[in-house]
Amino acid sequence: MVAPNFFGNRTLDILSKAEREGYGVLAQVCYDAGMAIAFVQAAERCRSPAILMLFPITLAYGKGPFLRFCLDLAHQASVPIAVHLDHATDPEHIELAFSLAEQGIAFDSIMVDASHAETDEENINLARPYIGRAYKLGIPVEVELGRLEGGEAGLRMISDAKLTDPEKAEVYMEGTGASILAPSIGNLHGTYLNPPNFRQHILVKLYKAFKGRIPLCLHGTDGLPDEIFVQCIRNGVSKINMNSWARDPYAKTLREHLSTKSFPEAQEAATEAFASVTRSTLCHLTKYRSSRLHPFTQSAMSNVVLITGAAGWLGGLLARALKEDAMTPNLQLILADVVEPTAPADVDTVAIKIDLTDELQVEALFNTRLGFPDTVYCLHGIMSRGSEDDFDFGLKVNVGSVRLLLDTIRQKQHPSGRLIKFVFTSSLAVYGGPLPDLITSSTIATPESAYGLGKLTSELFINEYTRRGFIDGRILRLPTIVVRPGPPSLATSAFISAIIREPLQGLEATCPIGDSLDSSALDLPLWLASSQVTIANLVHAKHIPAELFPPHTRVVCLPGFTATVRDEILALGKVSGKGALALIKFKDDPVNRRVVSSWPSKFDNTYALNLGFNVDKGGMEPIIWRFQREL
Ligand SMILES: NC(=O)c1ccc[n+]([C@@H]2O[C@H](COP(=O)([O-])OP(=O)(O)OC[C@H]3O[C@@H](n4cnc5c(N)ncnc54)[C@H](O)[C@@H]3O)[C@@H](O)[C@H]2O)c1
Ligand SMILES: [Zn+2]
Repeated sequence: MVAPNFFGNRTLDILSKAEREGYGVLAQVCYDAGMAIAFVQAAERCRSPAILMLFPITLAYGKGPFLRFCLDLAHQASVPIAVHLDHATDPEHIELAFSLAEQGIAFDSIMVDASHAETDEENINLARPYIGRAYKLGIPVEVELGRLEGGEAGLRMISDAKLTDPEKAEVYMEGTGASILAPSIGNLHGTYLNPPNFRQHILVKLYKAFKGRIPLCLHGTDGLPDEIFVQCIRNGVSKINMNSWARDPYAKTLREHLSTKSFPEAQEAATEAFASVTRSTLCHLTKYRSSRLHPFTQSAMSNVVLITGAAGWLGGLLARALKEDAMTPNLQLILADVVEPTAPADVDTVAIKIDLTDELQVEALFNTRLGFPDTVYCLHGIMSRGSEDDFDFGLKVNVGSVRLLLDTIRQKQHPSGRLIKFVFTSSLAVYGGPLPDLITSSTIATPESAYGLGKLTSELFINEYTRRGFIDGRILRLPTIVVRPGPPSLATSAFISAIIREPLQGLEATCPIGDSLDSSALDLPLWLASSQVTIANLVHAKHIPAELFPPHTRVVCLPGFTATVRDEILALGKVSGKGALALIKFKDDPVNRRVVSSWPSKFDNTYALNLGFNVDKGGMEPIIWRFQREL
């Protein structure tokens, strides 16, 4: 039987492009509407094609209406997404898919799985009639040749695996007329109890026989290490099926949040967990080109993370967020700060009290019992007003100690030969002078403060060290983050949080801008982000494949939103009433006003969103609500 010409079929178009260009496409099993929505959003964020898969059991549960929902969602997305029925084995499920197709609710492709058959001949005989009928309905079919061991929710349990015989493959594919081939090469469904032993030579032979005609699909990929994806894609696999890797964090987050939060909040958190795993996977797979190697994810490896400035506000939040990150399992932390840092509960941590401007002490960070870090988050620093008031000290910390850290890494290098990811928090204080209304990636930074000078200088070092292959840098220019808890800091921007934080607690706050609530100075626009979104973005920064950055710069302006000082005050009034507003006192401070006014207030978020970073939605109000709830 010869397959018809499926011109314009989504699944085949997506896979043949991936095969031609040498990358993998994530085919993810979705069990409910939340997962489907999250998956489509993740694909749109990565500008990546994707395949949304349903198990037969989900189809039998949701029937036509649910399939129609998934098809609408996928086909209306701004990137190519196909909907595929995975592992259809039982006649009733295949019949259901066919009868829905007859009613105009058709999968873009289905898998007819007869791999439980005793022999290849029996497999062909079982599959062929269904494939013929699928073709009449315009649906290409994936088949499994050989047999995979294991089982997953909603699938049969198979205990006797059979490797695919590449010599027989041609006969088999012709016999069934199938369009996609899922081989058995040592892969299995479920958890790998022993290190996976994939017979790459089988893939090599299959790819040689079917290149350009029949895409290859890899099943049983949950929890696999980087190298295997890299090899399999290099050897011709284009469709990568995944199930539990994203499903389990979804279920876990939902379960945990339901005990303390409202249903919609728990649902949103679970959806975000699912989207975050699938987004990273999509980005990795699609941007992977066979000619270039890069780690797929560090999941199976160690995750030793060094955070400098770990006793600071963001450092503390980051350590806790990394602990919760599904893409950073086996986390071990090295925390460094001049103030003794505190370790998050249940994480293997080395906490070091250290002055990072001292060469000998910096050296010690790389000789702890945890060994060499895989990722360094460089967060320590002397904030804006601090460096403005003590110029030499500010530069010593914000430039000198960063350079010291970079050179120590450069001299040592990771034992595996891998480049250390170096994530640096920069600031919008690098901008100054006359600026366009909208800052884009190509706007030149000319700082007008010691803090901005320090940050920009360190950025230049990190870019150059990355270009030279000493490190794998990621430079994040953070918006001003609201609402910062605790006592007021020395930052010039401190008032931006103080005028919310203090009144919410019944305390007076001083606003250094304007002289009353009616003052036009309050129309000063600010570029803001919440701490929750910013921390999620810091975590995401370590998962972005290096290839996604252009060759000349690792700078990313993290997404933010514009609000004026007045917008802030109005939002505070809405959340907390007029009484809170009366607690804001005005005392114009020209130095402060000059510095804050020199900062830009509107950026183009497109580049950062395309890299998979997040942005706050809804302006100041939800941020103030959240802060008040957590007080
Ligand atoms: N919070 C914001 O709104 C914001 C905005 C833009 C950029 N950033 C950047 O993010 C990073 C973290 O900000 P944060 O708000 O958590 O600041 P923070 O002041 O709370 O933390 C900075 C930490 O660095 C430590 N430190 C300073 N000098 C040190 C030294 N010589 N050796 C060791 N540790 C030293 C401090 O003790 C402090 O704990 C900073 O680099 C900052 O420039 C923050
Ligand atoms: Zn499978």
